[in-house]
Amino acid sequence: MSQSQRPRQDGWASRIGVILAVAGSAVGLGNFLRFPGNAAQNGGGAFMLPYFISLLVLGIPLCWAEWTMGRYGGRHGFNSSPGIFTAIWPHRAAKYFGAIALAIPLFIYMYYVQIEAWCLGYALNYLNGTLTDPASLRQTLQLAPTAEETKVFGEFFSRYVGSHEDGALFHPQGRSTLWVVVVAFLLNFALIYRGISKGIESFCKVAMPLMVFCALCVLVRVLTLDPPPGKPDQTVLAGLGFMWNPQPKKLLDPGTWLAAASQIFFSLSVGFGIIINYASYLKKDDDVALSGLTASSMNEFFEVCLGGLITIPAAFVFFGLALREYAGSTFNMGFIVLPNVFAQMPAGRFFGFLWFFMLFLAAITSSVSMLQPVIAFLEEGFGLRRHASATILGLITALGCGYVLYFSGETKALAEFDFWSGTLMIYVLALFQILLYGWVFGIQRGEQELHQGAHIRVPRVVQWNLKYVAPVFLLAIFGSFCWQSGKQQLVATWKDPVKFGSVLFMLVVFGFLLGMVHIAGRRWERQGKVKYE
Ligand code: PFF
Repeated sequence: MSQSQRPRQDGWASRIGVILAVAGSAVGLGNFLRFPGNAAQNGGGAFMLPYFISLLVLGIPLCWAEWTMGRYGGRHGFNSSPGIFTAIWPHRAAKYFGAIALAIPLFIYMYYVQIEAWCLGYALNYLNGTLTDPASLRQTLQLAPTAEETKVFGEFFSRYVGSHEDGALFHPQGRSTLWVVVVAFLLNFALIYRGISKGIESFCKVAMPLMVFCALCVLVRVLTLDPPPGKPDQTVLAGLGFMWNPQPKKLLDPGTWLAAASQIFFSLSVGFGIIINYASYLKKDDDVALSGLTASSMNEFFEVCLGGLITIPAAFVFFGLALREYAGSTFNMGFIVLPNVFAQMPAGRFFGFLWFFMLFLAAITSSVSMLQPVIAFLEEGFGLRRHASATILGLITALGCGYVLYFSGETKALAEFDFWSGTLMIYVLALFQILLYGWVFGIQRGEQELHQGAHIRVPRVVQWNLKYVAPVFLLAIFGSFCWQSGKQQLVATWKDPVKFGSVLFMLVVFGFLLGMVHIAGRRWERQGKVKYE
């Protein structure tokens, strides 16, 4: 292929840009909705012990490994995981593992963009005042005048996302949600189409500071809330206690450790093939050690300091101990309890808008990162230009989104996609990546590569940890995860046609990706880009 035919090499325009883009991918709904629910349900303050152990043993080290391997792969002419894995492990099998790193973000995108659209839809509903006044909402929804407020917001949510019936969003009443999903979907593609620096980087540079601003405004409002009249015990401080008081007994439950490790992976966006791709656009001497640490620290700030201080304490002030009923479910907390809280809070319309708009920004900087790995693969695997890659990817994701949108009943399809891609497959990919780094790339080479152009020195123990401790820890968690919920989940999937259909859909798309990776591998061989050992 002549130079002029080759797709133009895209890349990051600035160091802060790549850090913000990685942090943008990491900071998302996981930080504000998934984390508080997880912590409250798994031992409150005690949850933070397995959480921080997972962060130190798995999260940050794997993050460094991904940054290192990604930049190494980029230097060897690859931006997609199938290519990068092959550059590190020149074996025919390596690229097929790369297919997992394409499939995970792709499947997550298919449902994540819908939750993102709900956030946008809720923000708009705050702007036009629909969600501010429970009395008129009660009327619009034709509920009994005596219906409690939680019920009113619950009903609104259920109708908004179509969880009462499959196909509900395709009825005339569901159209408004459908339109918002289409808008969110197209916005993602518009960003990805503009490319790495003009699309993802420029957007994250604006969106991240804006998110901090919105979140801080909401935080200040929450921390200065007064207890409702007649309920002097329901203070913000008691809300913090509700969330953070440790229940040490929970530490003996393997479920707590599982929840903590999955939270770390999901939240930091490690083990998804995203960082590897983003880092591949760096130059040889661009720092990865400090950048990786900075992006992870930003994520932790958003998660623990903002996510951990807003949702539950605010809800506690208005609900008190009754919150126990809702705290375990991400959607209930985010879309039913919080609107209730905003309805009772002074200037709730404004803060409700800020909150959901901030969630939307957090979500879109994450969802756009889920599209990039496949785009990069289509470009380098088939020599396609960006618009052709974006069109193909648009068609595949539209099919998946359509499936999840149609089977909206009890958000079952969404939960199934989340379980297989967002929980199970990430363990497999994370384990593969850790083994690839520790045992194939080698920790000596890894340490050297990590420190090339680095602004900090990473202690050697991190390398030993990546080789010996992290894989064992991960295997133990993964093993107990399969042991605990594997069989139960398989049976549930087998018995339910929608769940079964979701898994079938994912398998077909995965098969398709494997086929594409196979063809791309042949092409690279012919071009002399890869030489197997
Ligand atoms: N880290 C994101 C969050 O916390 O919401 C979620 C995410 C981003 C998952 C990117 C997967 C991914 F590829």
